[in-house]
Amino acid sequence: MNETQDIPTVALQAVLKKSSTLPKNKEVVKGYDFNDGVDYHAILQSYKTSGFQATNFGLAVEEINKMIACRQLPLSSEDVLETDPFIRRKHHCTIFLGYTSNMASAGVRDTIRYLVQHKMIDCIVTSAGGVEEDIIKCLAPTLIGDFSLRGAELRENGLNRIGNLIVPNENYCLFEDWVMPILDKLLEEQKSKNIIWSPSKILTRLGEEISNPDSICYWAAKNEIPIFCPALTDGSLGDMIYFHSFRNPGLIIDIAQDIRRVNSIAVKAENSGMIIIGGGVSKHHVCNANLMRNGADYAVFINTANEFDGSDSGARPDEAISWGKIRKTASPVKIYADASLVFPLIVAQTFAPIFHAEKHHVSSELA
Ligand SMILES: NC(=O)c1ccc[n+]([C@@H]2O[C@H](COP(=O)([O-])OP(=O)(O)OC[C@H]3O[C@@H](n4cnc5c(N)ncnc54)[C@H](O)[C@@H]3O)[C@@H](O)[C@H]2O)c1
Repeated sequence: MNETQDIPTVALQAVLKKSSTLPKNKEVVKGYDFNDGVDYHAILQSYKTSGFQATNFGLAVEEINKMIACRQLPLSSEDVLETDPFIRRKHHCTIFLGYTSNMASAGVRDTIRYLVQHKMIDCIVTSAGGVEEDIIKCLAPTLIGDFSLRGAELRENGLNRIGNLIVPNENYCLFEDWVMPILDKLLEEQKSKNIIWSPSKILTRLGEEISNPDSICYWAAKNEIPIFCPALTDGSLGDMIYFHSFRNPGLIIDIAQDIRRVNSIAVKAENSGMIIIGGGVSKHHVCNANLMRNGADYAVFINTANEFDGSDSGARPDEAISWGKIRKTASPVKIYADASLVFPLIVAQTFAPIFHAEKHHVSSELA
């Protein structure tokens, strides 16, 4: 007896509906086989065919490698008339790096410092903590704590919590001692030399003053990479500027200079790429600058935010295309993940191997 005769046709048609033919080039889902040993590079390479955020990781690696390849091509024309070395076009692709403050609090700071130290990116945008946490770490360490440490007890003991990190309040006292004389000098130069400071100019100065090779700000100043921080006052730096306004009033910080500077970098770019870790002001500021050139050519977002609430943090790259902040022709990628896990791995598959291969090539040519 043929049993299928008893199955309702509607159910059969619904369950066994024929597929249309898919394009032949569709990749097959496949993960890493640990019978091949523990090969981290191969594991990360396998992500692209693994699905979900692992596939987005693989796509982001490809997108960033495209940015880097474009950046390595010769400039079509030198930016000879530009007198500001921080905004002068230097590469065929201008790479913007945006990141939230907690990245500087976390160990991601050291990954970002590596990129800046070796001039692998061209422009930084961050929030106030993204700068002060970097500088404070040069004065005293941030420590590993626990997400569950109780706020009231920590407060009693003068300890501040950032996720599962602990920053003793003492660190901010050290920061105050370090930064106040610099604010005095900035004010003195404003008065005696008519210098009007902007957040990015102050951050270059702080990088020069900290003079510590562990610092992102130090390398950014040394390598003429601007750091933009439109909300400079929303953090400990703002507290210091507030106290300073009583002790030695009169310091002017001009944000108009900086919007001109950051947008000029985007307008001058022959091609542009955005790598944006986290959301908030730093994400939008990078995207908004790229609107000035009708959109970035390449983009990678890494964040945990979702779009259902209409937030800019959660907006996918496609929303940025609608605003002209990413070009229609681009193939942007968003990874939904904690960047503390993902960003060092991305650098391990993009900037770092390219840098080390070039270094090896140069040293073997010299040998
Ligand atoms: N260490 C600190 O976090 C710190 C220190 C001092 C001041 N502040 C101030 O707090 C304000 C808010 O900080 P913000 O604008 O830098 O960002 P934020 O911490 O408010 O984060 C914005 C969004 O970025 C995403 N995000 C954050 N961390 C992420 C991660 N690890 N992985 C993936 N996505 C992540 C999330 O979607 C989040 O909603 C700023 O003005 C800043 O200066 C922060």
